[in-house]
Amino acid sequence: MTTAAPGSDLNAVDARVFPPSARRGSRCGELKLAGIPATELTAKHGSPLYVVDEQAARDRAREVREALQREAARVGTEATVYYAGKAFLCVEVARWMDEEGLAVDVASGGELAVALAAGVDPSRIGFHGNNKSEREIARAVEAGVGTIIIDSEIETERIAAAASAAGRRQRVRLRVNSGVHASTHDFLATSHEDQKFGQPLGEAPRLVEAILAHESLEFVGLHCHIGSQIFATDGFRESARRLLGVYPELERLVGAPIPELNLGGGFGIAYTSEQADEAPRIADIARELADIVAESAREFGVAVPKLAFEPGRSIIGQSGVTLYTVGTTKEVALAGSDAAADPADLGYSSRLYVSVDGGMSDNARPALYGADYQVRLANRSSDAEPALVRVVGKHCESGDIVVQRDVLPGDVRPGDTLAVAATGAYCWSLASNYNYVPRPPVVAVREGASRIIVRGETEDELLAKSVVATLSP
Ligand code: LLP
Repeated sequence: MTTAAPGSDLNAVDARVFPPSARRGSRCGELKLAGIPATELTAKHGSPLYVVDEQAARDRAREVREALQREAARVGTEATVYYAGKAFLCVEVARWMDEEGLAVDVASGGELAVALAAGVDPSRIGFHGNNKSEREIARAVEAGVGTIIIDSEIETERIAAAASAAGRRQRVRLRVNSGVHASTHDFLATSHEDQKFGQPLGEAPRLVEAILAHESLEFVGLHCHIGSQIFATDGFRESARRLLGVYPELERLVGAPIPELNLGGGFGIAYTSEQADEAPRIADIARELADIVAESAREFGVAVPKLAFEPGRSIIGQSGVTLYTVGTTKEVALAGSDAAADPADLGYSSRLYVSVDGGMSDNARPALYGADYQVRLANRSSDAEPALVRVVGKHCESGDIVVQRDVLPGDVRPGDTLAVAATGAYCWSLASNYNYVPRPPVVAVREGASRIIVRGETEDELLAKSVVATLSP
């Protein structure tokens, strides 16, 4: 699991998990992000605090885009890289992505509004969702959104009607399920996806025919997203091959080569040092995908389509860090007998519960998915003996866990600042107000300066949502 072995350096800041700018300062070994001590950030902006390293996010966005485009060019085609906004979107981040040459994938009218407010060229926006409302569709069409991804047969009719009402020809993709399950290693087993997104691949020809029947729609290709936080690349390769396998038939229907293929996102990242060696490298993913697309196109006798990708987590995940303040600690004895002991607890006889001032409201991922995270003492370093810890939140739920299992210096105490790594994706975007806890702000750090890019909430704002009904006589 995620636990550092006893004796390993508990003060180490692993650049494979934390943003590259994260390092210990010389004063008391405090953690600095983009040159700013963590405690200075919490003193200025409050705790808990989401911190995003702007340079790290920009560099990573460029790295991912360049790798995918370079490999596409190698096999004679092009690639568009959409940033999947669901991972974390605000106007500032949309602007960073745009400036780094990425297009933006949105999955709701709200995300669309953010991308447009950031000045993203509408033709560089892809619009997703399995139940887009007619209003959302109309807004997207009227805004001139580059592609709308059709998720169901019903939607074909709705998008066609909206486009024809707006006097536009709307570019669309069809989302299909390739039958590849990212959650298992059984990639080769053909299976019928029992889930809400997309259409079975076998139905693609019929659904494309239905699209072609509408003058107001321009079919540009298939879309498939096999899942998220994927480490093995075989699934992507198998999925790409299956999709290209239906391109000859689609070509016959369209009477021309199918111009594009969107392979979605889902590239996994390391949340802990233990995962760091296994996480796929983007250069490898890009190379393998370009190769399989080129090989499959040859095998099936079709032109190599332009490629599109939609990574979210792999772009923004590791540029985010959440800072918390410790409120209480509590030591709990672990089962004494060998038989009952969990090997993941590395032989520790007790666990220190470290309660922080946030929790499942700012990071739902451990509770939702059993996700692992890595924690470091951030206001100081310490040579104290290691303690097995579980970092927990302040919510009324025993599953309110921020870090399931890690090791911290045993003198961790109330008032200490903790830094949890790799919280840039699906933390703020999945945040809630459970227990009326206001959402923390998001602060961008860069070259020694910090600025708020998403305001935090106050209790007054939450209270103001309560409506006191006055009954009319
Ligand atoms: N494209 C489509 C169509 C998607 O559904 C998703 C993610 C992405 C791209 C981006 O995937 P990424 O590169 O970020 O893995 N809340 C979960 C993840 C849900 C992913 C939903 N779709 C989590 O926190 O792990």
